[in-house]
Amino acid sequence: MTKRVVLAYSGGLDTSVAVRWMIEEWGVEVVCVLVNVGQDTDNAESFDDIKARAIAAGAIACVLVDARREMAEEFCASAIFANARYEGKYPLVSALSRPVIVRHLVDQARKFNAHAVAHGCTGKGNDQVRFEVGTHALAPDLEVLAPARNWGMTRADSVDYAQKWDIPIKATKEKIYSIDENLWGRAIECGAIEDPWAPPPEEPYTLTRVTNPDPVELTVSFAGGLPVAIDGVVLPLADLIGELNARAGATGFGRIDMVENRRVGIKSREVYECPAALALIAAHADLEDLVLERDVHHEKARLESRWSELVYDGMWFSPLKEALDAFMADTQRHVTGDVRLRFEAPGLLRIVGRRSPKALYDHDLATYDAADTFQHADSEGYVKIYGLGVKTWAARQGAKNSTPPSS
Ligand code: ARG
Repeated sequence: MTKRVVLAYSGGLDTSVAVRWMIEEWGVEVVCVLVNVGQDTDNAESFDDIKARAIAAGAIACVLVDARREMAEEFCASAIFANARYEGKYPLVSALSRPVIVRHLVDQARKFNAHAVAHGCTGKGNDQVRFEVGTHALAPDLEVLAPARNWGMTRADSVDYAQKWDIPIKATKEKIYSIDENLWGRAIECGAIEDPWAPPPEEPYTLTRVTNPDPVELTVSFAGGLPVAIDGVVLPLADLIGELNARAGATGFGRIDMVENRRVGIKSREVYECPAALALIAAHADLEDLVLERDVHHEKARLESRWSELVYDGMWFSPLKEALDAFMADTQRHVTGDVRLRFEAPGLLRIVGRRSPKALYDHDLATYDAADTFQHADSEGYVKIYGLGVKTWAARQGAKNSTPPSS
């Protein structure tokens, strides 16, 4: 019986060529899985057209899965809990979508009785790691194939290959940018971006072109750590993200320009546009300032960067990531309240207010006015004992830097 492979299909040049190449070189049947994670931001092409291309390339079937809700409510939601930004900047756009895709690849592999799954990644990036480690975590028995690591074709060769096999691709030999997008934002690589000194070109941006020069003020409400409403209007998370991408993006907010460390040892310059992701994380983190107890808050900050690294590194389905999720979820029980955001073109966000029924902020303790209830006299003994060790050290051993530099 002919072996079957389930391919993560995007409709781009590489995955389209991969369909035919695997059929010709490896003698397999190919089933394509096209997962909608919210990548159709500009409706450049319909999913029906993309499915038709998979069939034209030789796939025996192309299954379209709408995973937008899952992407939002499970993957983006966990990223919000963890205020997730890899290397303090990148909100994990592509890293969050790959485990969603993997889950559906494995599901379809079972339904189609396939022996392997496949992806179109090259050997240089992080996405191959995420596809492969993710698949091994969910289905240790499945093989993972990476035709683009084997075929040794340049981009121009691939275009010729597609033409030879009558695969109706839109790509040309001079492709400028590599773009990956979903609900959480857009990741842009290649072309002029590869020179880290060159300012990023304007043209690949779509979500963050300034179309509204006026300031935008809005309130995001959170319940148990999750954003639930904008200006009091309750929305499913996927829609809330979409609305914020539009409203914040129109003021030019959400761009990132960074040099990042890939899992495979390469430093790469990347640009991103992620208005909703960055705004929601900023608002969420601000609300946490108001409601989290100090030790929990400080420990959480340390674990957030670990969570982000694990997810970046393809460890979504892993025991440490699951354990950290349990910690994050526990910390979110009181993260309920409203945050006021003010966007000013081009690209500025300020958080201008926050409130919560669970706030640990106590006005009568914090105030310097007549309402003050803080017991000032209690501080005398407290501070003495707090500093006792340093005082003893100074008396017995002396502080090295006690003399000011001569002026
Ligand atoms: N550098 C980012 C990451 O590793 C973005 C990758 C984008 N992927 C792509 N195939 N263009 O998550």
